[in-house]
Amino acid sequence: MPENLLIEGPKDGVRVFTLNRPEALNALNTELLGNLSAALDEAEADAETRAVVITGSQKAFAAGADINEMAARDLVGILEDPRTTHWARISRFNKPIIAAVNGFALGGGCELAMHADIMIAGTTARFGQPEINLGIMPGAGGTQRLVRAVGERLAMQMVLTGEPIDAKRALEAGLISEICQPELTLERAVQIARTIAGKAPIAVRLARESVRKANDLNLADGLRFERHAFTVLAGTADRQEGLDAFREKRKPHFTGR
Ligand code: CAA
Repeated sequence: MPENLLIEGPKDGVRVFTLNRPEALNALNTELLGNLSAALDEAEADAETRAVVITGSQKAFAAGADINEMAARDLVGILEDPRTTHWARISRFNKPIIAAVNGFALGGGCELAMHADIMIAGTTARFGQPEINLGIMPGAGGTQRLVRAVGERLAMQMVLTGEPIDAKRALEAGLISEICQPELTLERAVQIARTIAGKAPIAVRLARESVRKANDLNLADGLRFERHAFTVLAGTADRQEGLDAFREKRKPHFTGR
């Protein structure tokens, strides 16, 4: 197991990845992002893993890209930055990701959290895109996913001032879906992941894909995608099982077929 990324599970269908660079507030250097993307490769290939939780420490989910590493790269270095491949890997992961955020989620840390499908945060969480303070700008989705999550006005304020928002504001703005006491954030995220892990895997996959399409497609195309996905599910054994179980007043046993 890599030292900077702790991996637990799968247990009850859930793997938990804990970012572990306390000396740098979990700053996402290339090695850590590479380990995360390799861990996602394994989780994707493993049928037992139905959902993934990504978390950090009580003090920091992640304080951004590793500034020391970034400072060593010139224009060509940034152009050829291997981190881009890792970000792409994270964004095409095909199972649900739940982020459990406490403390700082800044820059690349906020961007990583926004790669999650569901985000739970402790009351101490701070979300921000402070890149502007370094004379740069977000480069891993901070100007795109943030707008889609909180709207243009608040995203613009965060990106241009570099000032973070707290968990309460993040909840009001729609960046996160729940606030917890910090010591319960991970537990709650795992509970949500386990609930999802108990559902029919193909239905979860297509429902997730369909919800994600809402950001990419216009309404007519999105509705068409949804209808196709809904129709495909009619061919699964799990749909039959779900409907039978309801009528027989028992818990369904989904097999992923
Ligand atoms: N990269 C490298 N090291 C970092 C870091 C980062 N992003 N953030 C914090 N650290 C290090 C600090 O240098 C410090 O190390 P030393 O003890 O060796 O000095 C250690 O972590 C603890 O940090 P602080 O002493 O600064 O802790 P604090 O509680 O006083 O402040 C903080 C916390 C407000 C988060 C502050 O550390 C900070 O502002 N960090 C930088 C945040 C930032 O600008 N992130 C954006 C990076 S750019 C980016 O993310 C771009 C992208 O992905 C595309």
